[in-house]
Amino acid sequence: MIFEQLNPGACRTYLIGDEQSHEAIVVDPVLEQVPQYLKMLDQKKLRLTHAIDTHTHADHISGAAALKDQVGCEYVMHAKAPARCVTFHLTDGFECHLGNHLVKVLATPGHTQDSITLVFHDRLLTGDVLFLDDAGAGRDDLPGGDAGAHWESLQRILTLPEHLIVYPAHEYRDRLPSSLKDQKESNPLLKLPTKQAYVDYLDSLQLGPADWMKEVLKANYACARDPQAAWIPVDVPACEVKGTLEQGVNDQQVAAIPVDVVKERLKSQTPPVMLDVRTPGEFTGELGHISQAINIPVTDLSHRLGELESAKDKEIITVCKSGGRAHTAAQILMQAGFSQVHVMMGGMLAWKK
Ligand SMILES: [Fe+2]
Repeated sequence: MIFEQLNPGACRTYLIGDEQSHEAIVVDPVLEQVPQYLKMLDQKKLRLTHAIDTHTHADHISGAAALKDQVGCEYVMHAKAPARCVTFHLTDGFECHLGNHLVKVLATPGHTQDSITLVFHDRLLTGDVLFLDDAGAGRDDLPGGDAGAHWESLQRILTLPEHLIVYPAHEYRDRLPSSLKDQKESNPLLKLPTKQAYVDYLDSLQLGPADWMKEVLKANYACARDPQAAWIPVDVPACEVKGTLEQGVNDQQVAAIPVDVVKERLKSQTPPVMLDVRTPGEFTGELGHISQAINIPVTDLSHRLGELESAKDKEIITVCKSGGRAHTAAQILMQAGFSQVHVMMGGMLAWKK
């Protein structure tokens, strides 16, 4: 069996193929990566028969609809999935073969109503129902989430053979897949003894979805084919309980400053550093840019922080088109120890107005 993890980042997309029949499935594809998937399928001479989402994602736009359009494969999800373009709906207990390899489907609701786990002879694709080690599991505060149902799903997974290797839909810190037996030892959310304990623990965290995640859900309900259909922050462990707590995924508290105040500060004796985090094309494009601004796209910011070293103790105001990417950039800077970080409210749209 061919088995590969395809994405460079934290979203885990799996390509599973059969050498004899040359048939393949892709699980949890990411829209932006679809051209790479098609290239890889071509190189490996595989025919994509099914693109499967383990659940409705809130942190990335699914690539399954685009794959369906481009290669004519089925788009597969659980029967409760709201996406309109799904062509094949699964329910609990469904079984099929990929070549000679048996695949069983377990309905494992909790993170979402439509979550499924795919069971192969030697491994499990758990979506966001079960993550690795201290990452625990997916959060249950998104629409349709149900901590009690999640606990029951985990108990069901715990009855499966212990040798199965767990492959989740996300891994934010390069933890390595390991067996269900290992996970029983290392995953704290598998140790909560009762459904009530699980529900109480998650309730006590008061996570609450970030607004941007609601926009991503809408894009997936509508089967968006445009990667820009929703704004998505970079490098944020948004789906896991642990990451949500540690990295302030829901924290929208970076102070935003109105354009007129920014203009005043730029005229002062100690003007702020203006950091424009749009793409170079946008920076030189129609909306123009603030003459004092430095341009580092938000996607590059984490590895170009060295260029801002001299500004570490100065005020930095981040700017993008409307404020979304500037907010992510501000969070990245704050996590890196920059002490005075603000966002320009309304971005370049407001500046131009
Ligand atoms: Fe998820």
